[in-house]
Amino acid sequence: MSELKTTSQEEREVILSASDLHVGYGSVLALHGVSLEIKKGELVSICGINGSGKTTIMRTLAGVLKPKSGKITFKGTDITGKKPEQVHKLGVALVPQGREIFPSLTVAENLRIGAFGCYKPAQYQKDLETMFELFPILKERYNQGGGLLSGGEQQMLAIARGLMSNPDLLMLDEPSLGLSPNRVDQIFELIEELKSRGMTILLVEQNAERAASISDRVYLLSNGRVEFSGKAEDMASAIDVASLYMGGKEEVK
Ligand SMILES: Nc1ncnc2c1ncn2[C@@H]1O[C@H](COP(=O)(O)OP(=O)(O)OP(=O)(O)O)[C@@H](O)[C@H]1O
Ligand SMILES: [Mg+2]
Repeated sequence: MSELKTTSQEEREVILSASDLHVGYGSVLALHGVSLEIKKGELVSICGINGSGKTTIMRTLAGVLKPKSGKITFKGTDITGKKPEQVHKLGVALVPQGREIFPSLTVAENLRIGAFGCYKPAQYQKDLETMFELFPILKERYNQGGGLLSGGEQQMLAIARGLMSNPDLLMLDEPSLGLSPNRVDQIFELIEELKSRGMTILLVEQNAERAASISDRVYLLSNGRVEFSGKAEDMASAIDVASLYMGGKEEVK
């Protein structure tokens, strides 16, 4: 049964492919030739210690950072160097590390911003109903300021905002950071629910072991390079230092 599942996973179409990405801040390189691919319907996680380049990858895929070299293809289109709003319109949504909701705007306005550039009235209403189903709290607080929500609720809003563009790829950068254990459980349940609905997800999580356990595949980053890619259960045997990244030491993400 699991073999059948594996085969169908392998046969899925590649939705995003990045090859040999070199990305830096000023003259300092943060990514040294990173390649990765994500298939339709997959949940892929990126792990690695602080500063290994996880956020840099997501920001590059979202068009926020321009690679110095390398290529990114999304749904068959070359999106290398495209602006964030163009990439967003094509179907890539980034829920950034630190949430970055707009605290002075209402929940409704925050959600509306998520659909910016992709707004279609009938679809918007449908998506809004889905968000209310996934996140009942957002219906209750619809006309309240985003800044009045608790940290966990703001994270829900940030994810819902990402989903409002009806993305083909959802990227979640540390969605459970700073949340209480109950809230962390909720976030993981939500990710699994989104996956079961067919969403393609790229995930960076502080709780790398737990993220890996629900992921189809894992990329392990070290100093801006891919150290390992494959199934989480194969990582330990492939990489000697895997325990350093996955074993729950203090500096581990
Ligand atoms: N705005 C910036 N200017 C200069 N250097 C940066 C900037 N943002 C990140 N870096 C550097 O790029 C490297 C990769 O950072 P990045 O934020 O991608 O790591 P990360 O794996 O997401 O880390 P964390 O787990 O702490 O979120 C680090 O060396 C970091 O110091
Ligand atoms: Mg980061």
